Amino acid sequence: MSVIGCGYLGAVHAAAMASIGHDVVGIDVDEHRVRSLAQGSAPFFEPRLEELLADGLEADRLRFSIDISDAAGAAVHFLAVGTPQVAGGHAADLRFVDAAIDALLPRLCPGDVVAGKSTVPVGTAQRIAERIAATGAELVWNPEFLREGWAVHDTLTPDRIVVGTAASVEGERAAGILREVYRPAVDGGTPFLVTDLATAELVKGAANAFLATKISFINAMAEIAEAAGADVALLADALGHDTRIGRRYLGSGIGFGGGCLPKDIRAFAARAEQLGRGEAVAFLHEVDAINLRRRERAVQLVIDALGGLVFGKRVAVLGAAFKPFSDDIRDSPALDVAVRLRGLGADVVVTDPAAIDNARAAHPQLGYARDRDEALRDADAVVIVTEWDEYRRNLSPVHAGSLVAGRVIVDGRNCLDAAAWRAAGWAYHGMGRR
Ligand code: UDX
Repeated sequence: MSVIGCGYLGAVHAAAMASIGHDVVGIDVDEHRVRSLAQGSAPFFEPRLEELLADGLEADRLRFSIDISDAAGAAVHFLAVGTPQVAGGHAADLRFVDAAIDALLPRLCPGDVVAGKSTVPVGTAQRIAERIAATGAELVWNPEFLREGWAVHDTLTPDRIVVGTAASVEGERAAGILREVYRPAVDGGTPFLVTDLATAELVKGAANAFLATKISFINAMAEIAEAAGADVALLADALGHDTRIGRRYLGSGIGFGGGCLPKDIRAFAARAEQLGRGEAVAFLHEVDAINLRRRERAVQLVIDALGGLVFGKRVAVLGAAFKPFSDDIRDSPALDVAVRLRGLGADVVVTDPAAIDNARAAHPQLGYARDRDEALRDADAVVIVTEWDEYRRNLSPVHAGSLVAGRVIVDGRNCLDAAAWRAAGWAYHGMGRR
């Protein structure tokens, strides 16, 4: 098989497919990325990826190339290129998808399966199917649902596998080929759902819209809790015990970011508008607005905690990645909070176990500390914005208190034991907590 596009999705997919015995070539236009992958080095932080790369390369089941003609001869071509937000709008930019198809077209043979994994606006698959029809290859749509930090796990043991096909004998045959590709997971009990193309595309957009809505729902409750003198973290626990609701994705705080949820809900709404059904997902604009308000609220909490002024104050910012177990800073609420504080004149010192280099390259104006204790030293206030274990679990309030200049902490992820921090003499401020 070939995997076209070796970003988060494609690199992990290629390595994971090799690990279950397939013969895989990963193709990418970025020479640096291809060279790094071919040497077994992951160009981003992803647990277990390097282990899988090393095994695949050594077993000769995995290679990487910048030359699309190396995709020729593969029976299945996975399309895993990025679909970023267009400049100046909310829709998805499909230029990488179109370029990949342009390059692949002359290499396709009758009977080949092209399996789209990229997150695309509904209707894209049908358009691609029409473009490749003359080659005799068959298009299926096979969305991915992997979470960064869990990408290997989610690829090898997904919650479900969705394959959208045309309603034809060829479509049925292509779905059968995908079932073979994923045989270990299917044999292990992973549900395998065959749908039409449009439904498969929609599953991805709808799943991300639901998750984003769930997070913004609890963050909206945080706003109410704050006004009413209630505690949103306790509220989330109580709601989560209702099995119809569930506790996951009810983590309140500074909200969601990353390379997927924010852009995907915007693209989803933009596509719904094109389809004349903008009203149906108008709530997603509110989901987005609630989410962005959280960042402002975290900054305001720091200002209030410091008595109304952050100018010239040293603020330790614990976290830069958009979530733990990732070095990804795309649309990171954590970094956004740091940048806003810096904009107000605070002497910001950011630290993160994985994302410092990426953060520094994007925001050289911020101060950085290599480790947590260095960041805490002499800080007037501390704000925790990415819930890495080394801040959430392994940071003793007594130890932290011995380093800082002022025992003021803003818990942007509602992840600390407020009572323990208060007992150690800290002024603790959660988001939507008493
Ligand atoms: C997400 C989807 O989970 C995945 O299925 C899809 O394929 C891509 O987008 P990912 O971006 O890796 O994956 O991150 P995820 O773990 O879902 O977290 C997204 C953001 O939401 C992070 O910023 C995280 O901190 C935040 N979040 C998550 C919350 O604020 N509260 C929660 O309860 C959960």
